[in-house]
Order: sequence, then structure tokens, then C-alpha cells
Amino acid sequence: MDEVELIRAASEARQEAYAPYSGFRVGAAVICDDGRIFAGANVENAVYGLSICAERVAMSKAVSEGCRRFEALAIIADGPTPCPPCGACRQFLAEFGAESLVIMANTKGETKKALIKELLPYAFTNERLFADKG
Ligand code: THU
Repeated sequence: MDEVELIRAASEARQEAYAPYSGFRVGAAVICDDGRIFAGANVENAVYGLSICAERVAMSKAVSEGCRRFEALAIIADGPTPCPPCGACRQFLAEFGAESLVIMANTKGETKKALIKELLPYAFTNERLFADKG
């Protein structure tokens, strides 16, 4: 998996961020277990709570095209340190496996990496929903 390529895809997607309210532009890209890459940007709304993060846009594009496992997700935004994914996006990513790599980046070229199981320990997953209730 080419991490530089994934960050570049996230960065390109960031160009299309629709963030007139926060002014905080975010791009994300995922690479699926079959090698396909899907990217997205944050999309805000006048009803602020309807805004959606770049990561969930990218993941939803991938899932709706048949992807069920993410090898990695890259996220990029402007800031003093690499941009971490929000809690909702961590939960969304954990749905598709605990081992996905999260590559955080900023526009200065700094990066930081962690597995989703490290970013969201004790995640609530479908295994719990399907666990034997006996
Ligand atoms: N945002 C993301 O796209 N991803 C995150 O993980 C954190 C926040 C977006 C949502 C909103 O459009 C803006 O950044 C400010 O919160």
C-alpha cells in the first residue's frame, strides 16, 4: 500500500471540501482490501448538524461500491499537527475491522499513524450485537 498515494488522494479530495461555515477543509481517502481507492471531503450544511466528515464520505463511497474491509484511511487538514479523525468517524471505521491503519496528515507534510483499534479501544461492534445472549 502506497501511503504517499493515499495522502495525495485525500489532499486532492480536500480541494472539493464544502465548508462555508467552519472554514475547516478536510480530505480523506480509503484503500480497500482489493486495492481500490475512494476519496471524499467534508460537506457542511446550513443545518449545521447535518454536516458530514470527509472520512465518512470516503468510506460511504467505498462501502456503497462493495468494499467491506479498509486496509487504510488517510485524513488531511490544515493545522499544527496531523489531523485526527473525530470519534464518530472512528466508530464508523471500526465497523469494518479493528486492524485498519489510520494515516493522519497535515498540509505541512507531517504524518502520524495508528490502528483503529488503538484510536478506539473497547469499540462497540456487531460482534457484540450478534453475541450469544445465553
Ligand atoms: N471534520 C471532518 O471532516 N473530519 C473529522 O474527523 C473532523 C471534522 C469536518 C467536519 C466539519 O465540516 C469541519 O471539519 C469542522 O468540524
